[in-house]
Amino acid sequence: MDQMPVQPACAIDRIQSDTDIWLEKELNMSKTRKAAIIGIGHVGAHVASALATQGFVDDILLLDQDEDKVISEVQDLNDAMLWMPHTVRIHGGDFEDLKDVDVIINCVGNISTLQVKNDRTLELRFNLEAVDSYASQIVQSGFDGVIINISNPCDVITRHLAMKTGLPKGRVFGTGTGLDSSRLISAISKKTGLNLKSIDACMMGEHGNLQFAPASVFSFRGAPLESVVPDLELDWKQLEKEAIDGGWVTFSRKHCTEYGIAATAARMTQAVLEDEQIVLPASAPLEGEYGVRGLFAGVPCVIGANGAEQVIELPLTEDELDRMQMCCTGIAKNIEKAAEIEAGLA
Ligand code: LAC
Repeated sequence: MDQMPVQPACAIDRIQSDTDIWLEKELNMSKTRKAAIIGIGHVGAHVASALATQGFVDDILLLDQDEDKVISEVQDLNDAMLWMPHTVRIHGGDFEDLKDVDVIINCVGNISTLQVKNDRTLELRFNLEAVDSYASQIVQSGFDGVIINISNPCDVITRHLAMKTGLPKGRVFGTGTGLDSSRLISAISKKTGLNLKSIDACMMGEHGNLQFAPASVFSFRGAPLESVVPDLELDWKQLEKEAIDGGWVTFSRKHCTEYGIAATAARMTQAVLEDEQIVLPASAPLEGEYGVRGLFAGVPCVIGANGAEQVIELPLTEDELDRMQMCCTGIAKNIEKAAEIEAGLA
């Protein structure tokens, strides 16, 4: 009788483990991917719309103390569903429903506190008190996912949410200078004519007026700008200013910002849900990186299933490190203000 060829054990093991990996991926893909949005104002509604349109979320829960607002937004988004490229379940609910949610996007805010000043810290008291009113409900729900915070002042409120929920390091992070980086890259693109996607640049530090552009590390797909656009002299100070002022240009005329921040938060949500391990600028906890400890600030970091998983330390110049220090001093002052508000002293 012919002998059956015997597969060497190691080959069978390999086939076995490849199948396991494939199965695991399939199972993950078939799992319902759930997001929740807390605070359904301009920003929350646009985040919901961005998530619903882009197709990497199956279920979106909207939470707001104004139930009528939730009913309206759920209705309106569902009215759009037939014409959207994916079918997504959109619904209202309660904090208890956060239990099996993968990503919460925190969007609470009160734009009337901003009056007509270009200063995100004016929202500190309102957003601090808002977070205090529901952080324990997030914990009690059994939520064990990732929180992406948008609420301003972003770096301070992100830290507050992380402390109040006690989630593991990195599982709470903020949009931070992600949006400002988009504003900067857009300004560079307009100036150079180069496509946005071929520009490696970011804003760092505070998602606020102190943030800075670390131009010494920017590249154009690895090449310095002079070699790509030889006759162009870029005024980095001006481009940095455009990135900082971008939010204000939008806010001062229509009294909110919405598309840019919603797109930023949606991109970060996708990075978490798909465990992308992608480097994006975001507000992440610092424990010695850039010589800073104990606060959140805008830095490039690796975003994956566990949130901001690793902070990337760029080789900044002395001047840039000083700017980072100035940002963190500013953030620390706002943390002190937050502590005073919490203690009833301010
Ligand atoms: C902005 C808000 C989100 O910069 O802070 O548009």
